[in-house]
Amino acid sequence: MSEPKLLVLYGSQTGTAQDTAQRIGRQAKRKRIQFQVLALDSYNVANLISESLVVFVCATTGQGDPPDNMRNFWRFLFRKSLPAGSLSRLDCAVLGLGDSSYPKFNFVAKKLHKRLQQLGAGSLLPVGLADDQHDLGADAVIDPWLTSLWQKVFALYPALATLTPLRDDEPLPPTYTFHFLDDVKEELHDRRGFSLDHAVPSQSLPFPAKLVSNERVTEASHFQDVRLIEFDISESGIEFGAGDVVMMHPCNSPEDVQQFCQLLRLDPEATFTLRATENTAVPARLPQPCSVRHLVEKFLDIAAVPRRSFFELLSTFATNELERDKLAEFSSAAGQSELHSYCNQPRRTALEVLAEFPHTTAELKVDHLLDLFPEIQPRSFSIASSLKAHPGRLQILVAVVQYKTKLYKPRRGLCSSWLASLDPHKGEVSVPLWVKKGSLRFPTDQNTPVIMVGPGTGVAPFRSALQERRSEGKTDHVLFFGCRFESKDFYFRSEWEEMMERGQLKLFTAFSRDQDKVYVQHRVKENSELLWDLIANKHACFYIAGNAKQMPTSVCDALKDAFQQKGCMSAGEAEQMLTAMEKSGRLQSETWS
Ligand code: 2AM
Repeated sequence: MSEPKLLVLYGSQTGTAQDTAQRIGRQAKRKRIQFQVLALDSYNVANLISESLVVFVCATTGQGDPPDNMRNFWRFLFRKSLPAGSLSRLDCAVLGLGDSSYPKFNFVAKKLHKRLQQLGAGSLLPVGLADDQHDLGADAVIDPWLTSLWQKVFALYPALATLTPLRDDEPLPPTYTFHFLDDVKEELHDRRGFSLDHAVPSQSLPFPAKLVSNERVTEASHFQDVRLIEFDISESGIEFGAGDVVMMHPCNSPEDVQQFCQLLRLDPEATFTLRATENTAVPARLPQPCSVRHLVEKFLDIAAVPRRSFFELLSTFATNELERDKLAEFSSAAGQSELHSYCNQPRRTALEVLAEFPHTTAELKVDHLLDLFPEIQPRSFSIASSLKAHPGRLQILVAVVQYKTKLYKPRRGLCSSWLASLDPHKGEVSVPLWVKKGSLRFPTDQNTPVIMVGPGTGVAPFRSALQERRSEGKTDHVLFFGCRFESKDFYFRSEWEEMMERGQLKLFTAFSRDQDKVYVQHRVKENSELLWDLIANKHACFYIAGNAKQMPTSVCDALKDAFQQKGCMSAGEAEQMLTAMEKSGRLQSETWS
């Protein structure tokens, strides 16, 4: 059998599956095996019939859905017209990344594995089911799974085992090389300018939306800064409905960019072009030529907590003995709990790690930057407005994330801090964005009552829904809103009051710090009679959104309680009713952290 090329295809939402796929690629590189790593939707799936060796690394998102960058592949693979034996040349392995706290744990990987076998593909080993719920859990599954993978590959292709691998401590050749340009110093423009001739804005072609306003909606004395941010999308062709989300890539702060460039002795104004050294494309989001500032500010995720792979790579550059030993420990399987308390627990950023390993950082070669740092991932926000109420505009509600750990400097959320820093009064600011369908769907029948539970920023999609539906005639709209203090973080109060005056809304509030803790679920319980009537007699839909992990479960418990009390049901019957509502889309929830 001739030597095969190993194809590693990934479906990744937050970058973890991508990182794992790249790790498999690096292991192949060390073993001198020909390989290619690609997002599933960047791969021409029709070619799968002629592949011989493919590893799939797939995350499962939301309610058991495939990540965005494998949706086309997913649709194709489940076409009924695909003949049963079409993948009979293929040997494959599937590694799933999931979170066991969600009900459909690793659903995508399991389903993919089954489908590939149905289509005739050989399975090298059982599907790997990594669990992100336990901080050290994923590696505990992935490491042994990878060891078996290589054993199987070598058994299938013995010639591969005879290649001389690179030593573990030898730096790998970089994926890209940087070619600095001496004469280009001026600010560069993105090579993919937006024009109206184009299709609807998307990840590959976002729309630069002008920032119209950025207003704090919580009292100045309140502990949390929450912003209502408005963008002008009137020239974009973007359309959206209630429940949809807007996506954008955040930028690193100017201070972080400056510190990074200082540590690595890089001139932020220097410009370069990138060349790929292997079978891969230059990232589409980087203009060519590109300035170092653009690369660091908009592309390299230096403010994230680094993963183990970062330490694995960094350790190969270390010449200082102390630093090398520490980095090697963090890279090893045995050092994972230490790495966890060093990085994950205090939320230490990659940039802070670099500053703590100054000798190694000074040794870093610019060519390795794109291997060391993942790309900044896009963030999503539930849209908080409706085009009906705000034509040509798109609003989001953003809690500016800031908290303390044992580290001296407070931790800040990258995207929310960046958004909060944007000031429309200091010149024109634009943010590249695109919109995608969200998981919440509101009934098209305007007579269907809608019950919404949205504490904190969870209220965003419901504000959109209410703005959209209020003009559509008289329907029952019930909103449960929770915040800490009536006087400090009860945002949109006057809007709700106006809707209430017009008879368009029933509002129930839970102020958790004005008196003994009251949460939205308590209000749901208190109003069981109304809710039972709307759900049982008027076929109401029920929605939950928010960022408190426990909240949806507590709200569902309160709802089950109402079914038992007012519907005279047993606990089992109430549970069944809830499940049936979920199945038919009458109960939907969206949570984020
Ligand atoms: P707390 O911060 O006082 O605990 C918006 O953030 C509101 O949601 C706040 O009033 C917050 O209360 C409340 N909240 C926090 N955890 C919750 C949970 N598990 N269930 C319901 N509401 C919660």
